[in-house]
Amino acid sequence: MKHTIGLIGFGTVGRGICEILLDKKNYLKEKYGFEFVITAVADFAFGNVYNPDGLDIPLMLKQANEKQKFTKDLTDYDNIKLIKNSNCDIICELTYTDLTSGGPAIDHVRAALESGKHIVTSNKGPAALFYPEMKKIADQNNVKFLIEGTVCAGTPVINLTDGPLAGCDISKIRGILNGTTNYMLSEMEKGMAYEEVLKIAQELGYAEADPTGDVEGHDARGKVTILANIVMGAGIKITDVPCRGITKITSEDIENAKAQNKRWKLIGSVEKKDGKVITSVSPEMIDYSHPLAGVMGATNALTFTTDLLGDVTIVGPGAGKIETGFSILTDILSIHRTNGK
Ligand code: HSE
Repeated sequence: MKHTIGLIGFGTVGRGICEILLDKKNYLKEKYGFEFVITAVADFAFGNVYNPDGLDIPLMLKQANEKQKFTKDLTDYDNIKLIKNSNCDIICELTYTDLTSGGPAIDHVRAALESGKHIVTSNKGPAALFYPEMKKIADQNNVKFLIEGTVCAGTPVINLTDGPLAGCDISKIRGILNGTTNYMLSEMEKGMAYEEVLKIAQELGYAEADPTGDVEGHDARGKVTILANIVMGAGIKITDVPCRGITKITSEDIENAKAQNKRWKLIGSVEKKDGKVITSVSPEMIDYSHPLAGVMGATNALTFTTDLLGDVTIVGPGAGKIETGFSILTDILSIHRTNGK
């Protein structure tokens, strides 16, 4: 089947999924019978473009990488018109995350689902703030609202609980949910200064557009909310999650932890207790002997405590261009394999 794909946002993740699709074009066709054409792209920096027969993606990648505006197939459609009027069957919502209002992503998601187009997104805003409402609109329109990339980039988490772990009761999820802060804490341990390492995390594409969201713990809080609501049906709001980031961790704290054979990690936790779901995000000193202590850099790790398997731990990349681009690919392939059903 040939899919027509639209991208709203052509930043790190948008370019990541394009590079993957171009590189793996033949493999995806041979292995899965998956064919695609990208016909619509909207980006506030580079412009909005539409060509129902397919855009010149290599040219667009070159232009965006050189910070130049698009020059071919420009359209007057704004984002919403482009979503509604394009011939896309799948819209990838890849704009920046806003965990307060969910905008502008939430308008893009709603417009796509209401016009019968599947949504694949790594944007935590719509998933953390509006998942039940968007899932309902998706179901009413017989399309998918897929969000694997919102938690731990492409490392399978949402799809793991919904697929391979289906049938297990998951009573606790605990681990490292933010790549930027884990990378920062790892590098600070080697002696690098906070500001310097934050700048590198931004350059590597780990940090959010506004990195305050990472270091204050809000990004991990969004992911905790998504897990609590989707995996445990908690029905909580993001503001219900007590949250502390890493901004107050000093090099002295890091040295103190070292002296006790411990290291700091920003831990997200979701746990069912006495009929309630208890959540939190906070820095913790973890003993070197604990499995989470060995998880360094932008890597994420989550342990699921289940009734049938005991603890199941998944460790993998939590951020990055290709790593998050892959989360978009895996959800697109899931739509392809089920023919959108
Ligand atoms: N800024 C996020 C992180 C990106 O560092 O984990 C992935 O959600």
